[in-house]
Amino acid sequence: MSDFLKVIDNRNSVRSYSDKPLPEDVLRTLVEAGLKAPTAANKQEIHFTVVGKEDPVQAEIQKDLNPDAQNTFYYNAPVTIYLSGDESFKWSAVDAGIAVENIHLAAQALGLGSVILGCMERILNGEKKEEYCKKLAFPEGYGYQVAIAVGYPEATKEPHTFDYEKNVSVI
Ligand SMILES: Cc1cc2nc3c(=O)[nH]c(=O)nc-3n(C[C@H](O)[C@H](O)[C@H](O)COP(=O)(O)O)c2cc1C
Repeated sequence: MSDFLKVIDNRNSVRSYSDKPLPEDVLRTLVEAGLKAPTAANKQEIHFTVVGKEDPVQAEIQKDLNPDAQNTFYYNAPVTIYLSGDESFKWSAVDAGIAVENIHLAAQALGLGSVILGCMERILNGEKKEEYCKKLAFPEGYGYQVAIAVGYPEATKEPHTFDYEKNVSVI
């Protein structure tokens, strides 16, 4: 099996991270994996905002989301990358999904762990949307699409099982 297919085979969402910070060059490689993703009509409209775990915006989102949660929404990963997209472009959500998966697989290939994050959507697109768009440096007219927490895994789990018969039709 090719190394790439092994990465897909072993990929899983990581929800426990060590405190070890991500080196600059590794972070750059991850963001570039997102930038290399295809976009509809090659519009390249997805914006990437890199946020360290100590940034006050992380605590503010946590407070608005669930101040009593046992774990943070980013599982204390050293870095969370927020993907925002042009809200007037109908493919922004799809393009962000493809870009975030590129980052997720690149992290796996580099021996890192990551988890795609959608749970903050109601906060980031809610009543404080304008404030959060500014704090997260989204370009004008952009809105939150998805995010990904990345770091060195403290624990991983088995890849999920799937039901080929249920989810696939060959016609
Ligand atoms: C669009 C999207 C949003 C997600 N949001 C969250 C989230 O907010 N928090 C979380 O812990 N996992 C989140 N996940 C991860 C899924 O829960 C995970 O992919 C799923 O349980 C399957 O597990 P696996 O990735 O380990 O195979 C999200 C995944 C996707 C694709």
